[in-house]
Amino acid sequence: MSNQILPPLTQIPAYLQTVADYECEAKKHLSEMVWAYLQGGAMDEVSVRDNLQQFSQIHLMPRMLKDLTQGNTQCEILGQRFPHPIFLAPIGHQQQFHPDAEAASALAAEVLGSNIVLSTFTNTDMRQLKKDNPYKWFQLYWQGDRAKSLSLVKIAEAHNFKAIVLTVDSPHTGIRDRERRAFFHLPEGMQHPHTPAHIPLPPLNEGDHPVFDGLMKIAPTWADIAWLKTQTDLPIILKGIVHPEDALLAIQHGVQGLIISNHGGRVLDTCLPPLKTLQMIKKVVPADFPLLYDGGIRRGTDVFKAIALGASAVLIGRPYIYGLAVAGALGVAHVIRILKEEFEITMALMGTSSIKEINSDYIYQE
Ligand code: GLV
Repeated sequence: MSNQILPPLTQIPAYLQTVADYECEAKKHLSEMVWAYLQGGAMDEVSVRDNLQQFSQIHLMPRMLKDLTQGNTQCEILGQRFPHPIFLAPIGHQQQFHPDAEAASALAAEVLGSNIVLSTFTNTDMRQLKKDNPYKWFQLYWQGDRAKSLSLVKIAEAHNFKAIVLTVDSPHTGIRDRERRAFFHLPEGMQHPHTPAHIPLPPLNEGDHPVFDGLMKIAPTWADIAWLKTQTDLPIILKGIVHPEDALLAIQHGVQGLIISNHGGRVLDTCLPPLKTLQMIKKVVPADFPLLYDGGIRRGTDVFKAIALGASAVLIGRPYIYGLAVAGALGVAHVIRILKEEFEITMALMGTSSIKEINSDYIYQE
């Protein structure tokens, strides 16, 4: 018997108090195939689990009796000031989760002052996002060639997006067994205003290797990063750098920030957990170089830990999609509010009144 898919809620019931509550509820509102896409990861999903587990191995050491009046959660990245450090990660094809898709996520982000990183694979045209809202960055998937990639950057520039986030960790999609078992496919006729649903592959000749002469032939390289830098004044942030040597190369190529991520465990299983990557990269980059953190954030305490270990801000992915699946914009807004409140109260209990004060002195690790 196939399970019945519940329609989105129009009010938030009292039993939804945490991201975990939203996760349970979201499952009831999605098909098994879409659930496999959302929850699943690469191969054995070790990285999916690690991303969540790594936070419980880090302990908090609060300070007491400090004066915290005038406290706030503001943060500054590349000269842009944000009301709080909880951003929405780029996630494509959001119509799978709710008919309002990215329009709903963007509305919730705007209301809650959350910076949204809009995916190349958005179902909502980037020009539909409110132009004068400064809290929006555009995530670029390399389009297989320079001209096509640049045309998206130019639309983002014209529409007041404040940074380009180029995802570099998935020149090839991950091997996602859970998706394959569920025969995952995008709905017939799904519209992507900025890109085809799949970047067209170069034609293969006799004897060509399907991977190395296929997708790898059209994947970006450092030379493309250097070129892109010359084509736009928007800051370029790379998402998915793991190796400290690559962090240094990024800086040499003019990259202005990194999003430390293993793509939610969806691409390369057993890739270094991002909290470890963050600490390794933090050691080699200049002290003020922006490092954003993405992976496994489910609680306000997780936000605090990532910032204490060197992040300038964090991105949430699956959590806001749970909200979207449950109740559209209302659900996304509620999820952001839950995490924001948890983070504010964590800051207060930790004895910190500003993001700048949060550092590794508040952390105990074996
Ligand atoms: C795409 O970026 C995905 O993780 O599905």
